[in-house]
Amino acid sequence: MMNPPLPHEAPIGIFDSGVGGLSILRHIRAQLPHEHLVYVADTGFAPYGDKPEHVVAERSLAVARFLAARGIKAFVVACNTATISAVTLLRERFPDMPIVGVEPGLKPAAAATRSGKVGVLATERTLAGDKFLRLRDQITDATHAQFLLQPCRGLVDCIEAGDTDGTTALLRRYVTPLLEEGADTLVLGCTHYPLVKSSIEHVIAEAGHEGVALVDTGEAVARQLVRLLATGSLLRTPDAVAPAHLEAFTSASATALSAAFNTLIGIDPPVQEADFGANAQAA
Ligand code: DGL
Repeated sequence: MMNPPLPHEAPIGIFDSGVGGLSILRHIRAQLPHEHLVYVADTGFAPYGDKPEHVVAERSLAVARFLAARGIKAFVVACNTATISAVTLLRERFPDMPIVGVEPGLKPAAAATRSGKVGVLATERTLAGDKFLRLRDQITDATHAQFLLQPCRGLVDCIEAGDTDGTTALLRRYVTPLLEEGADTLVLGCTHYPLVKSSIEHVIAEAGHEGVALVDTGEAVARQLVRLLATGSLLRTPDAVAPAHLEAFTSASATALSAAFNTLIGIDPPVQEADFGANAQAA
């Protein structure tokens, strides 16, 4: 009889509405090179940022169930919108699963700003979420930093489509007013945005601003995952027999996700199309 796989041999599930989570995955691969990973892009339902909170919660729950059925040992919600909308629900539904979420980095931004003004770029859904607004109020009270909230409608679509000109045009529209209002620090509050960091830097330079700090929490998220796995004695050992593997699933085109892996982070994992349970209910 075969022994069941040891818990630390199980993969880590990483999830986003699309390719944004690759900005987190690259940090996880760098910090945890021996871990098996399963990436899920719910591209068939992207973007999440213009959807009602209950829809984002239903999708997040459907993906979590899909990954739980694949025997993951930890779940990374590599999406600010899904974290703000659903991480509390996910923790209720999967009380024994280590779950790491991603929230806009307001705290590090408040520590970094010299002008006291911080621009926050994120989806409409993230910026309207109670969890986000509570975080904003808490950090404002503690630091007196002023947060200028900028919903970036359409930006995720352009990044998903690899539309560089469209991305730059939208960044001009969203970033320039923040700089003109005196923001010297910009929070990249959506995991898609670090993937176009060079375009953001280009727009800042073009607007004649210097020394603007960009806050991206990807590295901190990977560190938090390392801590949780270590606490649960779930880290996979480097001398394990099988080499670490990565596989990916998408609710849209496998060809498109393969191309994105290649273009954005230079790797070619196997990608499959899957239905994560379109009718999953949050309630
Ligand atoms: N990457 C997601 C985030 O961090 C994008 C949300 C969307 O699909 O609109 O918010």
